[in-house]
Amino acid sequence: MKLLIINGPNLNLLGKREPDIYGSSSFEAYWKGLQKKYPAAEIEYFQSNIEGEIIDKLHEVGFSIDGIVLNAAAYTHTSIGIGDAVKAIQTPVVEVHISNVHSRESFRHVSYIAANAKGVISGFGLQSYELAIQSFLL
Ligand code: DQA
Repeated sequence: MKLLIINGPNLNLLGKREPDIYGSSSFEAYWKGLQKKYPAAEIEYFQSNIEGEIIDKLHEVGFSIDGIVLNAAAYTHTSIGIGDAVKAIQTPVVEVHISNVHSRESFRHVSYIAANAKGVISGFGLQSYELAIQSFLL
């Protein structure tokens, strides 16, 4: 099984960015732990702050790998382009968020991805990613 985690804008700052909301662990350290825990899942990781690069990555892997775990971060709430890309590809996408977006500002309640995602996981801290990985292993 081949899975890819895609993180969107500002998530390169995990560990430093608003740690009360997003925690104090860097994503790389967390990802290495996931790779060790789920060796059969072959979990790769890509991060970009650029909308078009996220779309290009979805196109690149979205007809060959088994699953995508996508935290499009702020683009979740704004990007019709990423939403259309999720709809266009064949690989199932699970939308994840570290924070519970529904308990935050109303602009975070909108998702251009959710309608075409396999499912949405939000609010479990970094564990949201692990729950998404597990959903592909069921
Ligand atoms: C986020 C929630 C988004 O609203 C926010 O813009 C982010 C991170 C999360 O993981 O909780 O950057 O996707």
